[in-house]
Amino acid sequence: MNSKPETPDSQLPLNSVLCGECVAVMARLPAGCARLVVADPPYFQVLREQSWDTQWPDMDAYLQWSARWIEAAMRLLLPGGLLYCFGQLGKREHALLHLMSQSARRWQFHDLIIWDRAVGYNERSDSFTPAYEMILVLRCEGGPVYFDKDAVREPYDAATKALYARDKRYKDAAARQAHLEKGKYATNLWRIPSLKGASKEKAGHPSQKPRAAIERIVASSSAPGDLVIDPFLGSGTTAVVAQTLGRPWIGIEQSEEYAALARRRISSQLADDS
Ligand SMILES: C[S@@+](CC[C@H](N)C(=O)[O-])C[C@H]1O[C@@H](n2cnc3c(N)ncnc32)[C@H](O)[C@@H]1O
Repeated sequence: MNSKPETPDSQLPLNSVLCGECVAVMARLPAGCARLVVADPPYFQVLREQSWDTQWPDMDAYLQWSARWIEAAMRLLLPGGLLYCFGQLGKREHALLHLMSQSARRWQFHDLIIWDRAVGYNERSDSFTPAYEMILVLRCEGGPVYFDKDAVREPYDAATKALYARDKRYKDAAARQAHLEKGKYATNLWRIPSLKGASKEKAGHPSQKPRAAIERIVASSSAPGDLVIDPFLGSGTTAVVAQTLGRPWIGIEQSEEYAALARRRISSQLADDS
C-alpha cells in the first residue's frame, strides 16, 4: 500500500512537462502523490514509422519494459487511485493482450473500457476492420476509489426524453423529468471519434487522443485539486484537460520535440482560458 505523500505539494514539479524517460523520471517523484495516472504508452509496432513505437527488439522486451513503467506509475498512486492505460491490437503483434494479462496478475484489475473510435484504422484484408481501442484500468489497493459518476453523465437526446416522459410507469413526473435532464450514466463502451487530420484539435502528434476521452477519465476519476500524472504526454492532451478541469498535473515525455509541442499547446490553452 502506498503511503501518503512524503513531499509537500510545493516541492513537486506541478503543472510542468518533464522531458525524460518516464521510468527514471517517475522514480524521482514521491510515492502516493497522485490520484490518477493517464497513460497512453507506445503500442509496440502499430505505428511502425514512429521510432518511439519500435524501440524494442521484440515483444518480450516491450512487455518487460511495460511491467517496469506500470510498477513505477502504480507507486505514485494514492490508495484507491486509478491508472488508465490506452492500447490497441496490432495487425501482427498482440502485445496489448499480453500486457493486460501480466498486469491483471500483478495488479488489481478495475475496468476495461472499449473506446469505439467511430472510424476504422489499420485496414486489414483478412478480418474485420479494427475500430476500437481498449483502456485498461488498474487500481491501487488499500483505499476507496474516487469515482464521480455524475461528472460524466451523457445527455439524453430529445426523442428519448420525450419517449421516457410519456412512460406511465413513473408516477413522479417531476423526479422523472429531473433525472432525464441530468442524463444517463456513461457506460464502459465509449463512442468518441478519433481525431482526423483536419480536426481543429490536432496539435501535430500522430497518436494524439481526443480531449473528450481524456476529459471523461479526469472528470470521473479525480477531484479538483488531485494530482494527475501522464508518463507519455505526447502533445499534452492530459495536461490541457487537467489544467482546464482544475487538477494539478505532471507530464513526462521523452522526445524533446513533443515536450516542446506540449508546452506550446498548454500555453496557448492557458491564453485562451484567460
Ligand atoms: C501514444 S503517444 C501519446 C500521445 C498523447 N496521449 C497525446 O494525446 O498526444 C506516446 C508518447 O510516449 C512517448 N514515449 C515513448 N517512450 C517513452 C518513455 N520511455 N518515456 C517517456 N515518453 C515516452 C513518445 O515520444 C510519444 O510521444
